[in-house]
Amino acid sequence: MIKVVSAVKDVRAVVNEWKSQGLSVGLVPTMGYLHEGHQSLIKRAVAENDRVVVSVFVNPIQFAPNEDLATYPRDLEADKKLCDATGANLIFHPEPAEMYPDGFSTHINMDGLTKELCGKTRPTHFGGVCTVVGKLFNIVKPDKAYFGQKDAQQLAIIKRMVQDLNFDIEIVGCPIIREADGLAKSSRNTYLNTEERKAALILSKAVKLGEDMVKNGETDSKAVIKAMSDLICSEPLAKIDYVDVVNALTIEPVDVISGEILVAIAVYIGKTRLIDNFMISC
Ligand code: PAF
Repeated sequence: MIKVVSAVKDVRAVVNEWKSQGLSVGLVPTMGYLHEGHQSLIKRAVAENDRVVVSVFVNPIQFAPNEDLATYPRDLEADKKLCDATGANLIFHPEPAEMYPDGFSTHINMDGLTKELCGKTRPTHFGGVCTVVGKLFNIVKPDKAYFGQKDAQQLAIIKRMVQDLNFDIEIVGCPIIREADGLAKSSRNTYLNTEERKAALILSKAVKLGEDMVKNGETDSKAVIKAMSDLICSEPLAKIDYVDVVNALTIEPVDVISGEILVAIAVYIGKTRLIDNFMISC
């Protein structure tokens, strides 16, 4: 069974040994409760690196006090099986005190890209993400690190951080993995009851509608946002957090759809907040 280490010094010892043999290292940062979306990242990392580390850490500092840190799903045994079956070599599973010991005082904060989309309702979230990912990069020192495009804003932010802070790491974005009926895979889907699970399909339907409109030549962001919002509002259990059209690299809102575009949504289904998106180059 795959080895699990919880101390920074232990993951460093393993990775240093690999590096001394000239082996390349891929990192897949996760919060655990792994599903096929994570598995696709691990598969890609296994295909592109000699050794793969999966971090499993529910990062407390990316949750606001009113969010789901306490209830976030956890199942390390299942995670170990999935990592093992997928060919990963090491799980890094630290306790919060290992990552944030007493006296911890240094945070990575980013302007610009963190302010729109999820940053509006989760203003402290991306600072927590950047800080933990920066720490993971320094601990594991991977050659490549893998992130899902479902969290498109997070992916853009990590790419920016790597560029701004000169991390010598290639960031690999991987496609959204969906259930057979279209719902984007997410650890938070487990919060949905049967009725909410059906209602949650409105997200992927709205994404499909928006994507079809843009592919058919619509260039007015407002028209796309309105059509997608109207569709989401037709589902009684859905409440929109945002439907936005932004530049995929800068996450700045755009009026005219042209260039690298991200159309992103966040929708509450009951109490569960889900996200989805599509990216298009036009
Ligand atoms: O996407 C996630 O699961 C988390 O935000 C990450 C990148 C593992 C940081 O905690």
